[in-house]
Amino acid sequence: MCGIVGYIGKEQATPILLDGLKKLEYRGYDSAGIAVMNGGEINIVKAKGRLKVLCQMTDDGAAVKGACGIGHTRWATHGEPSETNAHPHCNDEKTIAAVHNGIIENYAELKAKLIRRGYTFYSQTDTEVATKLVDYYYKKYNDPLRAISEFALRVRGSYALAVMYCEYPETVFAIRKDSPMIIGTAKGGAFLASDVPAILKYTKSVYYVDNLEIVRLKSDGATFFNLDREEVEKVPVEITWDAEAAEKGGFEHFMLKEIHEQPKVIADTLNYAVKNGKIDFSEIGLENKFLKKLNGVIIVGCGSAYHAGVVMQYVIEDIARVPVRVELASEFRYRNPVASGELVIVISQSGETADSLAALREAKKKGLKTLAVVNVLGSSIAREADYVFYTKAGPEISVATTKAYTAQLIAGYLFAIKLAEVKKTVDAAVISALVTELKTLPEKVERLLADKEKIQKFAAETVDKNNVFFIGRGIDYAVGIEGSLKLKEISYIHSEAYAAGELKHGTISLIEKGTLVLGVLTQGALIEKTVSNLVETQSRGALIATVVTQGVRLPETGFERVFYVPETDSHFTASLAVIPLQLLAYYLSVLRGNDVDKPRNLAKSVTVE
Ligand code: M6R
Repeated sequence: MCGIVGYIGKEQATPILLDGLKKLEYRGYDSAGIAVMNGGEINIVKAKGRLKVLCQMTDDGAAVKGACGIGHTRWATHGEPSETNAHPHCNDEKTIAAVHNGIIENYAELKAKLIRRGYTFYSQTDTEVATKLVDYYYKKYNDPLRAISEFALRVRGSYALAVMYCEYPETVFAIRKDSPMIIGTAKGGAFLASDVPAILKYTKSVYYVDNLEIVRLKSDGATFFNLDREEVEKVPVEITWDAEAAEKGGFEHFMLKEIHEQPKVIADTLNYAVKNGKIDFSEIGLENKFLKKLNGVIIVGCGSAYHAGVVMQYVIEDIARVPVRVELASEFRYRNPVASGELVIVISQSGETADSLAALREAKKKGLKTLAVVNVLGSSIAREADYVFYTKAGPEISVATTKAYTAQLIAGYLFAIKLAEVKKTVDAAVISALVTELKTLPEKVERLLADKEKIQKFAAETVDKNNVFFIGRGIDYAVGIEGSLKLKEISYIHSEAYAAGELKHGTISLIEKGTLVLGVLTQGALIEKTVSNLVETQSRGALIATVVTQGVRLPETGFERVFYVPETDSHFTASLAVIPLQLLAYYLSVLRGNDVDKPRNLAKSVTVE
C-alpha cells in the first residue's frame, strides 16, 4: 500500500529510486513519481499506471540528474489514480516536495485552514495538504525539523512522510506514525524506504523508525529526533536475509516461488521454537507460569491471517482445552469486546496492518496481554506486543500470501501443543509424538509440490468456471476459507467457502449445472458427512473435486477429480490441504492472464482502514 524510497549520496539518485520502487511494486500501486534535487532545484516527474511508464519518461533514470531524491508508488485513497494526484507533491514555489504513505484523517479541516491562509490546491489528495502544511510551518519558523514536528502536532491519522527542502539540497527529512519506514546506511549514501527489499541491494544495516520520530538523512548517515527536536540514539539492526531472498530466483512469479519455499519455511519456523525436540518459548518470553493460568485466548487478524487463526482455534481448543475465539481485527477494534484475563494473539505477516494494529492497541487498553505472530522484524505490531513469535517465512513479495500463512499455522500448532503441555491436557508421549509429526511436514509438502502438474491440468479444465464453492467441516472448513480467498484475489473467480453443514441452509440454491464444488476431506469422522453434502450438490449438477488424505476410502460416489494429500495428524492437515488450493488459485490466475503477484485493487500491506 504505497511505497516510499529516498536516497542521498554520491550516486545519481533517480536510478536508485526507480530500482527501489520496483522492489516495492508488490505493495500495490496505480501511479508513481519521483522528485530529485539538482543544483538547488527540485525536478518532479510523475506518471499514472505502471512504473515502466515513469522509467520511459526518465530514460530509466538517466534523464533526471541529482544525487538526492524521493520516490513514491501511490495506491489511491483520496482521489482517482492520475498524474495530478500522484506523489511527490510540492508547494507553489517548488521549493518543498514530499511523498506520503497513510491517511491524514483531518485533511479537510487542515485544507480549509490553509486555503484561508492563501494556499491553492490542485489535487484531491491528503498528501498535498500535508506538503503545504509543512511548507506553512517552514515559512513561519524557517526550520525544517520544526516544520515537521509542527505538522505532526496538527495531523491525525497515519503517515510515513519524506520531505526535501531546496534550502537543504543535500538532506532528506522524514517522519512516521503508524505507517512503516526504515532507514538504511551504507558507505557514501543513506536510504529510506517503506520496506527492506527496496534497499537490500545497497545495505543490510537498517534502523526501524519509531512512531513520531523525525529523521534527518545525509550522505554520511542518519540522525533521529523526537518531536521536541532532541536527538535520539538508535541502534541499527542487521538484516539476515540477502537480496536474492527478495528476487524471483528463476520462478515465473513470486507467488510460485513462495509456494515452493514452504517446506523450508516450516522447517525454519520449527527450528526457531523447538530445541532438542522440545518446544521452547524462552526467546518469545512466554513463561510456563503465565500459560498455566491462562483461561482464554482471543485471536485477531485480517484476511489470511484471520484464516490461520480459525485453524488455530480448532487446534488449541482440541489439544489444550482452553476456550478460543477468533475475530476479524476490523470488528474487534470497534465493538468494545468483553474480555478479561485472555491472551490476545494478533496474527499479521506485515506487522503493519492498520486494523490488526488497532485491535492490538484495543486489547492493551483493556489490560490484556498480547502475543504477536508476525513475519516482519521490527514492524509496529511486533514492537507494541508484549510477546512476539517471529514466523520465519522470509520476505513475502506476492500480494497473495502463501508461505506466511503456512508459517502462521506452524506458530499456532506450537502454541497449542505448548499450552497443552503446560496445562497437562495430553500425555507427554502425545506431546512428543505431535512435535515429531510436525517435523515430517516439510517433506510432505515437498511431495505435494512435486505433483503440481495434476493441479495445473485441473486448472486448465476449470479455467472457465465463474463460481466455485469450497466446503468442509472443522479444520477442512478453515482451510476452505483460505483456498476460497486465494482464488478470489488472484484469479478473480467468484468463490465462497462454506461449512459443509451450512450449505443447505440457503447457499445450495446457487448450485447449478457445472458449478465447481471443492470438498476438503481430511478430518476422519467428518469426511462421510461432507461427502453427503458433496453428493447433494452433485445431484444438482455440480462438478465435484476433492482434496483427500491418502489412504482414506471414500464412499462410492463417482467423484473423479480426487487430489490426495499425505497422511498426518488430523490437527495439522491444513498445512497440506492448503497446498493444492494455493496451486489451483495460482494456475487459474496464470491461465486467465492475470497479474499474479500484483492482483487488481489489492495492496500487500493494508495500512489504512
Ligand atoms: O500483513 P497481514 O498478515 O496483517 O495482512 C493481512 C491480510 O491483508 C492478508 O492476509 C491478505 O488477506 C492477503 N492478501 C491474503 O492473501
